[in-house]
Amino acid sequence: MKMHTSITSAKILNLNKLLLMKKLIQIKNKINVYKNKSIKVSGDKSLSIRFAILASLAVGKSKATNLLNSEDVISTLNCLKKLGVIIKHNKKFCEITGRGLGSFNNKKNLTLNAGNSGTAARLLMAALVQSKNTIKITGDNSLKKRDMSRIVQPLQKFGAEFINNKKTLPIYIKGSNFLKPIIYDELRGSAQCKSAVMIAALNVKGKTKLRCVPSRNHSELMFKNVLKIPIRIKKNKNFDMIELTGGNNFKAFNYNIPGDISSAAFFIVLTLLSKNSNLLIKGININPSRTGIISILNMMGAKIKFKNLKNYQGEKIADIFVANTKKLRSIKLDPKFNSSAIDEFLLIFLVASVSKGVSEFKNLQELNNKESKRLDWGFKILTLMGVKTKKIGNHGIKIWGNPNLKLHKHYEIKNYLKDHRVFMVSVIAALSFGGNWNIYDPDSIKTSFPNFLKITKKLGGKIN
Ligand code: S3P
Repeated sequence: MKMHTSITSAKILNLNKLLLMKKLIQIKNKINVYKNKSIKVSGDKSLSIRFAILASLAVGKSKATNLLNSEDVISTLNCLKKLGVIIKHNKKFCEITGRGLGSFNNKKNLTLNAGNSGTAARLLMAALVQSKNTIKITGDNSLKKRDMSRIVQPLQKFGAEFINNKKTLPIYIKGSNFLKPIIYDELRGSAQCKSAVMIAALNVKGKTKLRCVPSRNHSELMFKNVLKIPIRIKKNKNFDMIELTGGNNFKAFNYNIPGDISSAAFFIVLTLLSKNSNLLIKGININPSRTGIISILNMMGAKIKFKNLKNYQGEKIADIFVANTKKLRSIKLDPKFNSSAIDEFLLIFLVASVSKGVSEFKNLQELNNKESKRLDWGFKILTLMGVKTKKIGNHGIKIWGNPNLKLHKHYEIKNYLKDHRVFMVSVIAALSFGGNWNIYDPDSIKTSFPNFLKITKKLGGKIN
């Protein structure tokens, strides 16, 4: 992770070479006003990965439309193909033929590579609790740094076996024929942990019980409305209580994947911060467990609206209308919003940078367990922009907003773990605040949002 505020002329030749090789992009101007435009972003990543894994465990042919065509999803599909699942994937649809629970044909010495995707690695491991042979799960440099013990522990409780290293990838998992249901407390507010336990529980006869700090609830909605799994979900003051009965096969299903709010979020913030602009983003999943960014920005003075609301299989879909807001105010955020905005905090920090007053965000230690250390990146990007920040323990950030922030200097963003969200947030900062930016690793967007730069250009962003 490296950042510099100045650049020597000796580097210019080399930079031009890197530009040509598309190893970096340059942005030298703020985006111009755009009005009455509408865009669509790609399919939801969480739902795309859940569709693929659950369809591979179902009996028969399942079909999804608008599946996210990104590296995280392709890695998931490739792992499933290695497990013998038949998959037909083209621009129009993705068809997966499942043969039911425990039907993966896992050959000896099989390696599954989840690439950059924590969701894929963790949910796939859960789907393997019945595997007959030992399977190696690995990933890229970023994924190999992430904690897997949070998944290994509950899967061991079910009866799965792990060999050697149980904390980081590569991990070796061997399933069991003698699995037992478990009682599990999910206290991080992690949807990946909750969903991994739920997917493992599908393979296990009997009732698995979970007590979870609320997090995105796509798995619960799919289990209940689409797969028709016997599941009870009760919300009490601080926890979601989930009980589900596993051990029975379920039928194949069809699913139309809505747009991803975590992708829409980049253009929500760009529009909010761009003078006189407005934008309609069509067909986005506005499940309340994902719309933290909207609630937070509206509390800071934005007036983001939902239009054309629809329900789909328990999910809520809408068009999102956003307009530039001149008077944004700081926020002392209640951490109860953290989980519903977990992938959007770098964007929220950008907004706080120009919001009047001092903002505070706490209990965000999980941000440093993402594709890269995103809480640390928040400090780095804001400090680079000249915004005053202060650490709150090792879990939070205080941001002194400057409504007159204008950038003129040279900024360079190199993130060696190639975190897609660090790249995209830097592009939004450059187009919103000005300055002369070199941002490395444009290829990182392929993991979650391959059309990001295309849409940015469509709105008028000048990117070399
Ligand atoms: C995801 C859950 C979140 C999120 C990730 C996708 C999911 O992770 O950051 O991008 O699809 O369940 P955690 O569950 O680790 O918070």
